[in-house]
Amino acid sequence: MKRSLVLGIETSCDETGIGLYDSERGLRAHRVFSQIDLHAAYGGVVPELASRDHVRRIVPLIRETLESGGVRLQDLTAIAYTTGPGLAGALLVGASVAEALALALNLPALPIHHLEGHLLSPLLAAEPAEFPFVALLVSGGHTQLMRVGGVGDYQLLGESVDDAAGEAFDKTAKLLGLGYPGGPALARLAEQGMAGRFKLPRPMLHSGDLNFSFSGLKTAVLTATQQLGYGPEQAPDLAIEFQEAVVDVLTHKALAALKQTRLKRLVVAGGVGANRRLRTVLHEALARRGARVFFPELEYCSDNGAMIAFAGAMRLRAGCAQATREGAFAVRPRWPLSDLAAGAGTA
Ligand code: KG4
Ligand code: ZN
Repeated sequence: MKRSLVLGIETSCDETGIGLYDSERGLRAHRVFSQIDLHAAYGGVVPELASRDHVRRIVPLIRETLESGGVRLQDLTAIAYTTGPGLAGALLVGASVAEALALALNLPALPIHHLEGHLLSPLLAAEPAEFPFVALLVSGGHTQLMRVGGVGDYQLLGESVDDAAGEAFDKTAKLLGLGYPGGPALARLAEQGMAGRFKLPRPMLHSGDLNFSFSGLKTAVLTATQQLGYGPEQAPDLAIEFQEAVVDVLTHKALAALKQTRLKRLVVAGGVGANRRLRTVLHEALARRGARVFFPELEYCSDNGAMIAFAGAMRLRAGCAQATREGAFAVRPRWPLSDLAAGAGTA
């Protein structure tokens, strides 16, 4: 097997991420520049500002990552980059830099699906899960259960019919007066809360399928805050109940997905995978059923370039990497992961 040394570039949203994955030595280096401070004043990501900041950060970050990994541009064997889904302008920054580099260095440029990056990121761990497994993808834009048979073999089992879990965390955090990004802030607030003071619904818990719905939960929180006698001092109690409701539904559906697929391994990926309560509850619930749950390291839960470099290297190893032709590329702001058949990675 030929050695590969892949540079990964991630610019789909508000993080500039660069990673360097070596098929023989594993992850050599990765760097993330988060734009949180830039967008905080606006309470959410401003796409135009995001694109401009990626332009500012990307080249210095590539230099820094290569230096830290002790790798020269000439040593690289491929450039992997996120083509979608995400913000069009932000994606274009990573795509143009990746394609320009590939053209200049005469290397293949590998377009990568952002969610495939998340999905495979738990395999960066020292003791990775083996295929096949069920993946619970919980990010700011997606909540999906997939059956993962191997690299490029992804079967959608169920997904959110409205808001994603991360989006629900963010919107509820906003309702409770917390800053952006709301997910981690809400989880911190929940730690001070008393369980059982509020009762929120568990949407679609018994829907009989593997789909989710989280927008009603946010509305239920809003209704609770409008009730007579509600004061900001109760926000932690509401936060803990909100978190419990989301964790309950995610756990219930993940277990149902394992049962349906007769699999014993669950891999959790995406930003909400950083949630401690979700980690604890899934660990316990799966252990009781003789199943195992795998989480990415915390630093690979949120957007990063390591997972993109890794996905590129995995595709090369599996023989299903398809390079773009001589800089002919396009980004795909909307791109369902289930469209991603093996080898169908080109834009
Ligand atoms: O995967 P990610 O970094 O970006 C997307 O591709 O969307 O996920 C970001 C999402 C945000 O909605 C954020 O609020 C949420 O993950 N998040 C959390 C936690 N940390 C990040 N949600 C709940 N608890 C956390 N600890
Ligand atoms: Zn992401």
